[in-house]
Amino acid sequence: MAKRALITGITGQDGSYLAELLLDLGYDVYGLVRRTSTQNFERIAHIQHRLNLISGDLSDQTSLQEALIQANPDEVYNLAAQSFVQTSWAQPVFTGDVTALGVTRLLDAIRHINPTIRFYQATSSEIFGNVREVPQRETTPFYPRSPYGVAKVYGHWITVNYRESYGIHASSGILFNHESPRRGFEFVTRKVTRGVAMIKLGLAHELHLGNLDAQRDWGFAGDYVKAMWRMLQEDTPGDYVIATGKTWSVQKLVETAFEYVDLDWRDYVRQDPSFIRPAEVDLLVGDPTKASTILGWEPSVGFVELVRMMVDADLKLLQENAVTAAGV
Ligand code: NAP
Ligand code: GDD
Repeated sequence: MAKRALITGITGQDGSYLAELLLDLGYDVYGLVRRTSTQNFERIAHIQHRLNLISGDLSDQTSLQEALIQANPDEVYNLAAQSFVQTSWAQPVFTGDVTALGVTRLLDAIRHINPTIRFYQATSSEIFGNVREVPQRETTPFYPRSPYGVAKVYGHWITVNYRESYGIHASSGILFNHESPRRGFEFVTRKVTRGVAMIKLGLAHELHLGNLDAQRDWGFAGDYVKAMWRMLQEDTPGDYVIATGKTWSVQKLVETAFEYVDLDWRDYVRQDPSFIRPAEVDLLVGDPTKASTILGWEPSVGFVELVRMMVDADLKLLQENAVTAAGV
């Protein structure tokens, strides 16, 4: 019989790649979706006919219980979150409610409805914040630097706690930044690749950014969802750092993207204080040795290839939109 999986956050970047992967593996895939005034199923439109979508919200306990009863899953992947770090300062309580307490709501629903369900929690390298060690690994102490990072620390520890208290097969994936052509426009990689594409096509003349010195360990989202799945196939649950092991500055990201379309970034990039954060995470670089050794997981897309893939996709998207707008 086909395995069944429930994905929260299925309309997001990772949710869409994970849904594709699980469908390819022969799963029956269920997705939790929240009601919005304008439907935002763009990332899953191409596979929507193969998915079972259930209405629910991480802030609503009853809807989570109902989703578990309806989907009757073998595996639950909790990807839903208020995931934008900058917004977490503007909406700290909301971020805590969804990104932190939402994990407890889901785990507790699992405990009551079917404690044999295997559970994946989308933890983040933001938990390392003001890093205590370079590179960061599973044993590195946490020092979050935003309400989002603090919420993810809570989500991580409640996952460990439900594993230890109730024997739930619950794993925490400590994922470093991962990107793709489906990345939200507000995150720096997509903001840069879309900005570069707009400038190249004459649709914009400037790109406003914040701190260019921050360094991130950027990988490809399509690779990272494979690690999530592998964690839940292990006999023993655990915590895993998922990263490339290499780090790059935001400035290097900008240079790489502009260079690819034969433009000089200095002619277009303006520093804008409104994008500077109250507290910054200066350097993230992960050590994925445990994932490599136990899960056999390796990243397949490097930084330059990733940036070029995203610039190409944004150029194509904007050109297609122009054709549609012109009614051609
Ligand atoms: P994303 O594109 O922002 O997607 C977030 C998803 O969560 C969306 O489907 C969103 O639904 C849903 N959601 C938000 N609030 C919800 C709520 N109250 N109830 C139910 N669903 C809700 O994020 P992502 O990049 O795919 O990341 C997936 C997860 O991994 C997140 O938990 C994120 O914090 C974590 N993470 C991401 C990275 C990364 O670099 N991408 C790294 C480490 C950890 P709508 O479409 O309706 O908004
Ligand atoms: N978004 C954004 N916009 N970031 C900028 C900008 C800008 O205009 N200019 C500079 N940056 C810098 C930020 O200050 C930060 O240091 C870095 O670019 C990356 O910012 P984001 O792309 O917004 O990602 P993030 O690292 O804060 O968070 C992402 O990765 C986490 C994993 O480490 C998100 O996906 C989180 O959900 C995820 O947990």
